[in-house]
Amino acid sequence: MVKICGIGAGYVGGPTMAVIALKCPSIEVAVVDISESRISAWNSKKLPFYEPGLEEVVNQCRGKNLLFSSDVEKHVYEADIIFVSVNTPTKIKGIGAGKAADLTYWESAARMIADVSNSDKIVVEKSTVPVRTAEAIGKILSQNSKSKGIKYQILSNPEFLSEGTAIQDLLNPDRVLIGGNQDPQGLDAIQKLKDIYAYWVPQDRIITTNLWSAELSKLADNAFLAQRISSINAMSALCEATGAEVSQVSLALGKNTKIGPKFLNASVGFGGSCFQKDILNLVYICESNGLSEVGNYWKEVIKVNEYQKSRFVHRVVTSMFNTVSGKKIAILGFAFKKDTSDTRKSPAIDVCKGLLGDNACLSIYDPRVTENQIEKELFMDGVEWEQPMVNVVGDAYEATRDAHGLCILTEWDEFKTIDYQRVYQNMEKPAFVFDGRNILDVHNLREIGFIVYSIGKPLDQWLMNINIMN
Ligand code: UDX
Ligand code: UDX
Ligand code: ADP
Repeated sequence: MVKICGIGAGYVGGPTMAVIALKCPSIEVAVVDISESRISAWNSKKLPFYEPGLEEVVNQCRGKNLLFSSDVEKHVYEADIIFVSVNTPTKIKGIGAGKAADLTYWESAARMIADVSNSDKIVVEKSTVPVRTAEAIGKILSQNSKSKGIKYQILSNPEFLSEGTAIQDLLNPDRVLIGGNQDPQGLDAIQKLKDIYAYWVPQDRIITTNLWSAELSKLADNAFLAQRISSINAMSALCEATGAEVSQVSLALGKNTKIGPKFLNASVGFGGSCFQKDILNLVYICESNGLSEVGNYWKEVIKVNEYQKSRFVHRVVTSMFNTVSGKKIAILGFAFKKDTSDTRKSPAIDVCKGLLGDNACLSIYDPRVTENQIEKELFMDGVEWEQPMVNVVGDAYEATRDAHGLCILTEWDEFKTIDYQRVYQNMEKPAFVFDGRNILDVHNLREIGFIVYSIGKPLDQWLMNINIMN
C-alpha cells in the first residue's frame, strides 16, 4: 500500500490531501503540521477555515484512510511520497526583502525529511516556489541524509485550486501539472505521481514537463490571472472618465475567443495570499537574472492594483464632501472574495485603512470573517484604531443603521438581496453606496434615493460634479 504524507495542513495542503484520500481509498494519507492548534481543528467538528464541500470530504475519509497529526516525523518516516504544502511568504528582511519568497519553512521541512528518512522518497513541491527551488531542495536532502544510499526524487506539482471552489477545482481540475527530472529515475517518479491522479483525472489533463517549466508555470499562471484583473481595472477607471460601462466592455472582450470570458470582473482590487506574493517573486527572479524590463512589466500589475484600491477610497472621501471624519461608514464584506473566510491581502484591509486614515468610523460586517480576524488584519497592517472607530457587527442592517455611506468590498451573494429600501430609510442623508464589486442594481438604488458609485460604471450627476471640482 502506498503511503502519502502531506506536510502543511493549510488552505492548500488540507483540501488537496483530503481529496486524494477521497479518490484513492487504497492509499493512506497522513496530513501533518507543526501547528498543534491547526491539527486539533482538523480533528474537530469545526475545521480551521471555511471552504464549501470540505467538511463533507473530510467527514467521509477521516479515520479511514485520512488522518491529521502533529507527529510530523513519524509520518514522514513512513511515507513513500511526501507532498510539501508549507507557507512561502514574501521575505520581510534581508536580501530580496519585500519581493523574494521566504523559503525558511520549506528548508526546515526538507532538513527534517533528510533527518528522519531511511527509505527512498518522492518529494513533491505543492506550494508555489521560485524557479529552481527543486535543485536547492535536492541538495539539502542528499547532503543531509542520515542513512546512506537513500534516493530522493523531487517533483514539482503546483496546485491551481482557488479558495471558495477548492473542492470542485480538485475534483475536476482543468489540468494537473507534474514536472520532474527527465532521466529514467525522474520519469519513474513522474509516473508514480501520475498513477495517483489517474484515479480520477483523465489522462489528457495530466501534463508532464521538466522541473523548471512546472515551477515557472505556476508563477506565470498567477501573474497572468492578476494581469487580467489589473487590465480590466485599468479600463474601469477609463470607463468612469468617459461614460463607457466596464461590464459591457468585459462582455464584448469575453466574447472574443482569443481573449475568453473569465477573470474580467472589475473590482476594488485583487486580494488573496497568492497574486501579489507570486508576482513580487517573479519580479525578483527577473531582476536577479538581469531582466529588469520584464520585471518592470509585471510590477505594473501590482501598481494598478494599489491604484484601484486608493482610487476607491478617494471616491468615497471626495463624494462625501471631502471628509468622512466622524462619519459612520458600513463595510459590507471583509474576505478577499466570496465563499471564503480568508482575509489574506484582502482589498478590504487597505480600503479600511484608507478610510480610518481620514477618521471614518467603520461598522464592518462579513458573513464568514470573525471579529478577531478583522482586528488581527487591521492591527497587523499597522493601523491604529480604537473601539469607537471600528465595530464588527452581526448583519448588514446593523452595519448600515445611521451610516452615511456603505461600501461593498466582497461580492457575497447575500448583499444582492438585502432590502435596500429599508437600508436607505435607516441611513443618514444623503445616503451613499460605493459598490466595489459591481454586484448591485445601480438603477434601482438610484430610484430609491441613494447616490451610487459602482466601479467602472457611468457616474451619476452628483459624482460628475465632484469629479469636475477635483
Ligand atoms: C489583429 C486582431 O487579432 C484582430 O482582432 C483585429 O481586428 C486586427 O488586429 P491582425 O493584426 O491581422 O489582427 O493579426 P493577429 O493574428 O492578431 O496578429 C498580430 C500580431 O501579433 C502578428 O504580428 C502576430 O505574429 C503576432 N502574434 C499573435 C504573436 O506574436 N503571438 C501570438 O500568440 C499571436
Ligand atoms: C488564485 C488562482 O485563481 C488559483 O489558480 C491559484 O491556485 C491561487 O490563486 P484565489 O486567490 O483563491 O486563487 O482566488 P481567485 O478567484 O483567483 O481571486 C483572487 C482575487 O482576484 C480575489 O480578490 C478576487 O475577488 C479577485 N478577482 C478575481 C477579481 O477582482 N476579478 C475577477 O474577475 C476575478
Ligand atoms: P497555504 O495557503 O499555502 O496552504 P497556510 O499558511 O494556510 O498556507 O499553510 C501552511 C501550513 O504549513 C501552516 O499550517 C504551517 O503551520 C505549516 N508548516 C510550515 N512549516 C512546516 C513544517 N516545517 N512542518 C510542518 N508544517 C509546517
